[in-house]
Amino acid sequence: MSALLEVEDLTVELGGRAVVDHVSWQLEVGGRLGIIGESGSGKTMSVLAIVGLAPDHAVISGSVRLDGAELLGRPDRELAALRGDQVAMVFQDPRAALNPLMRVGKQISEPLRVHQRASRRAAATAAIELCGRVGLPEPERTVRAYPHQLSGGQRQRVGIAMALACRPELLIADEPTTALDVTVQAGVMALLRELVAEEGTALVFISHDVALVAGVVKSVIVMRDGRIVERGSAADIVRSPEHEYTRQLLDAARRTST
Ligand SMILES: Nc1ncnc2c1ncn2[C@@H]1O[C@H](COP(=O)(O)OP(=O)(O)O)[C@@H](O)[C@H]1O
Ligand SMILES: [Mg+2]
Repeated sequence: MSALLEVEDLTVELGGRAVVDHVSWQLEVGGRLGIIGESGSGKTMSVLAIVGLAPDHAVISGSVRLDGAELLGRPDRELAALRGDQVAMVFQDPRAALNPLMRVGKQISEPLRVHQRASRRAAATAAIELCGRVGLPEPERTVRAYPHQLSGGQRQRVGIAMALACRPELLIADEPTTALDVTVQAGVMALLRELVAEEGTALVFISHDVALVAGVVKSVIVMRDGRIVERGSAADIVRSPEHEYTRQLLDAARRTST
């Protein structure tokens, strides 16, 4: 196995409390890992710490290596150069990730302008192409729209297009469908699955919904109170969870999906 991301003993303390507590996991090149756990279990904070977006007052320790190189303690400038290029994120609320005053085409191609110094023209062409790839209707027209003119599902597709613009090695999707209607969720999930498979992008998929996670990833870690309480293959965990906590998460997911 060649490791893309190695997280070792990652601990994030906020106000003296370890909200991520000695967490270790690895992801191979092109691998897919799910992080599940109830709200507040430390899923988001662990990935924010990995990409250098944890709050300023957070005290972070442990090790996070990307392609063998340590990320913790790197200057902000270097981490910012990484984000959107080698590592991209899709968040729960696409509205928060999008600038309401900027046409979506410009936003989709912004990472290309910043990280690859694409010309305005090349960026504009790429935006249309990316819009098409993520299944947005009438790409030539859609690139000229503003975020509020799109539906929630379409906005999340814009978020995905932005994330994939620079063909990252790693995509971190943090509850990417939680804010969407159930019918729209399925389409966005199918799109994510298809894109990472086509590009060979490694994926960290975060959700409180075990069933949803199991549909996209091979292995899963289960977090509670900042710690990993269970890990294994997605299929095994859905079939025979070891922990009562995991069982409860499964039951909750089943209740909401029927
Ligand atoms: N900016 C912050 N300052 C202080 N505590 C925070 C902050 N963000 C999150 N937390 C706390 O950290 C814990 C983990 O949060 P989070 O990683 O967002 O959980 P999850 O994504 O699993 O729902 C929670 O107890 C939350 O209240
Ligand atoms: Mg979260």
